[in-house]
Amino acid sequence: MPRPHYVAAIDQGTTSSRCIVFDQAGSIISVAQREHRQIFPKPGWVEHDAGEIWQAVQTVLAEAVSGAGIEDGQIAALGITNQRETTVLWDRETGRPVCPAVVWQDTRTDALTRALSEHEQLFKEKAGLPLATYFAGPKIRWLLDEIPGLRERAERGEVLFGTMDSWLLWNLTGRHLTDVTNASRTMLMNIHTLAWDDELLAAMGVPRAMLPEIRPSAEVYGHTSNGVPVASALGDQQAALFGQTCFAPGETKSTYGSGSFLLMNTGQEPVVSKHGLLTTVGYQIGDGPATYALEGAIAVTGSLVQWLRDNLGLISSAAEIETLAKTVDDNGGCYFVPAFSGLFAPHWRSDARGVIAGLTGFVNKGHIARAVLEATAWQTREVVDAMNADSGLDLTTLRADGGMTADNLLMQTLADVLAVPVIRPMVAETTALGAAYAAGLATGYWPDIDSLRANWHKAAEWQPAIDASVREREYRNWKKAVARTLGWVE
Ligand code: G3P
Repeated sequence: MPRPHYVAAIDQGTTSSRCIVFDQAGSIISVAQREHRQIFPKPGWVEHDAGEIWQAVQTVLAEAVSGAGIEDGQIAALGITNQRETTVLWDRETGRPVCPAVVWQDTRTDALTRALSEHEQLFKEKAGLPLATYFAGPKIRWLLDEIPGLRERAERGEVLFGTMDSWLLWNLTGRHLTDVTNASRTMLMNIHTLAWDDELLAAMGVPRAMLPEIRPSAEVYGHTSNGVPVASALGDQQAALFGQTCFAPGETKSTYGSGSFLLMNTGQEPVVSKHGLLTTVGYQIGDGPATYALEGAIAVTGSLVQWLRDNLGLISSAAEIETLAKTVDDNGGCYFVPAFSGLFAPHWRSDARGVIAGLTGFVNKGHIARAVLEATAWQTREVVDAMNADSGLDLTTLRADGGMTADNLLMQTLADVLAVPVIRPMVAETTALGAAYAAGLATGYWPDIDSLRANWHKAAEWQPAIDASVREREYRNWKKAVARTLGWVE
């Protein structure tokens, strides 16, 4: 009897790298995970060690395969999904990083992005993005400006740029590639032509010689040293859209990880946002047309829970936030706006910094825990309002996924503040699942996207349960707290 085959996906995230092995039904067979260091050299700076991440990826790949009790030969395809925008520069000759990776949350490019404001309209029209510290382009420019000799080496093609997908593809297959979804987060790719754009490159001051080749999100890019086809690469939020099988225009998902990202499939035309959302590439399967998405990106949600654990010691594990929040009935009048990296969608204010507003002597750590969970819900409400305004449609249900969706109190709070049902799918690991699906489509493991839809099953649903008057009063208070974060950095 032939041995069964599986698809593996590497999910290289902001705080950890994972590898998950899936079967044909999209069920999880095994998981391996390794955290990596978060390096904070100065306020507002966040770095990763790309070498440490590559080590972690190799480890989890081997562990997931052995954990599934299978051999490499039974892996029909390997997919990659990754934290987006985080910028790695490495030496073409040695393959070693030339500097620490600058993480998407890092705000060191604040002054630089303000200095580029004359090009704001160009970036909006061609790249679909506002000028913000978030994206890869300003991070590359900053490194080329600040590290002596780097620009000259980059111009000669001796130093290469890549987001984490490129870094892993380079190490796994020896090729310097990226996919359209990751490229759409650099501010350097024209989202209409799906190619690097000379005008954008000139405005950002980035030499073409250091850039990877842009490829579709699903095709066989090459093989690992053990002969496994590496067959997909997608930014993690686009992968989650794919894993939630949001294949039709209007279908929307929200993923709750260190940040939270709500994406709506807008079909084969990029839609320009008038309400602070990003226009991004959703996916491109083989040489088919690209599918676009509107995105509401929130910088800090799950990482606020980690901050409560690591920096304040109020909880000893992330899961404890729910227990602590349940010790009280409400937020006790306090609101926590975690503008640690400025505010992303829909505000795009890099001059914002976090506040806890409404403190009185009555507030205890239970109220703070509740305000922390509510911060995720209210930030989601802000991007849902923007999404409804941009699309002219009203969101009717929210498909939520990601690690934080294990928190039932958060799920109920989301339903309450959005006033729509919130649904969690059976496989909440939709990011890895999306990368697996794309890799499996590229290699014929799954025949078509309809076979993927059949794998999607609802696990749980939460209904709104608070009065509209309470909801609107709380939203007004939240907005007052947001106003207090703005303009903190001069
Ligand atoms: O754009 C940043 C995003 O891709 C990070 O995702 O899940 O690692 O927080 P995550």
